[in-house]
Amino acid sequence: MQNNQLPTAPYKGTSDFLPDELSERNYIFNKWRQVLSELNYQEYETSVLEMSEVFKIKSGEELGSTQIYSFLDKSNRQIALRPEQTPSLARLVSNNFGELKYPLRWFSIPNCFRYEQPQRGRRREFWQLNVDIIGSEEGWADFESIYLATKLMTAFGAKKQDYVVYYNHRGVLQSFLKEIGIGDESLKQVFHILDNWAKMGESENEAELSKIMDDKAKNQILCLLEGMNREMDLWDDIVEDEFPAFSELGDRLSSILGSTVDLQLNPALVRGLTYYTGMVFEVFDTDPVNNRSLFGGGRYDNLLDLYGKQASAVGFGMGQVPFTDFLHTHNLISKDDVATRPTTVLIPLTNEAVQKCYAEKIPELVSSGVAVEIDLDLSRALNKRRESAFKKGFEAVEIE
Ligand code: HAM
Repeated sequence: MQNNQLPTAPYKGTSDFLPDELSERNYIFNKWRQVLSELNYQEYETSVLEMSEVFKIKSGEELGSTQIYSFLDKSNRQIALRPEQTPSLARLVSNNFGELKYPLRWFSIPNCFRYEQPQRGRRREFWQLNVDIIGSEEGWADFESIYLATKLMTAFGAKKQDYVVYYNHRGVLQSFLKEIGIGDESLKQVFHILDNWAKMGESENEAELSKIMDDKAKNQILCLLEGMNREMDLWDDIVEDEFPAFSELGDRLSSILGSTVDLQLNPALVRGLTYYTGMVFEVFDTDPVNNRSLFGGGRYDNLLDLYGKQASAVGFGMGQVPFTDFLHTHNLISKDDVATRPTTVLIPLTNEAVQKCYAEKIPELVSSGVAVEIDLDLSRALNKRRESAFKKGFEAVEIE
């Protein structure tokens, strides 16, 4: 072996897809497309390249700075490989604002790039289904977003015990924090601590809270997380007085989806991205092997402001990698699901027979729904040619 040989492995955190692996991914994408088209969601696409500042301003510190892949183009523009789709969607809608018919029900399956430490469920390049409703106020649109998220799960056979949907409202949490004396200047930090809660230890979290508030406020937050009566009463009062639509959302979720989906209010759920303005939700796998967040989203009513437009919006992003892990963990995907069309291998015995295959046999078989492969190795022994077809699991037909 030569020393200067290049490595054959793909760049760290990215994947090559062999045909069987790509078939599995396409099977999942096609099922997503089918479920979404049933509710008339339309597919759109934007470029993988986007001006970096869009993410710097809107996605928050982690995505916009630490994890972004960016470079200067030859005209000194700072360009990024998109780490997420939502800011590009906001740009696309703003660019066509007057011509579109609202509400938009749109979806896209882009590949995104984040400079993260690759680990189970996390890659540096990943595909992410994005489903968004633009131009519909909070209320039923928030419900529809969660409804669709659960439909995408049940379409693959997921059952109530397989996953949990946690939901919350950032506005309610913010009012709660203000009510217990947290000032505006500390809200962002508290959100950040709550967003990382599960990743840190209990004492670390408490120490972080102590840096920005007194013991009384800290204990009230801890009691809220534990669902203690006094804090939950305060929470309920805030919902009733200031956020009636969120109270309705809870009622609708439990009456329409409650028998088939495990839905739980989680007052500490914030989600990392800074642009969410209202309801947020996150879907968790319940299996101990894969017990982590699968995907999530929420309402973001101010994202188009960046482009001088105003439209309310709600949606979610679902990564193909954690979703595929979920399907495997719960045995919800098998080789049979992913199987391609039945295939026939034609084994022509002469050059004239090859001609006959292309001119007559292919159109004939294809029109009957069968895929065709022609064995072009006429010089090989006939039994070997048959054997190759059988090994692939295909029917073989000799053509004279
Ligand atoms: P996000 O929480 O950053 O939200 O990502 C959404 C989902 O994308 C995650 O829950 C996970 O399934 C997947 N994902 C994220 N990072 C990775 C990674 N490194 N490898 C594999 N999968 C990953 C957003 O991106 C929002 N823009 C979603 C949204 C759409 N909100 C409203 N509309």
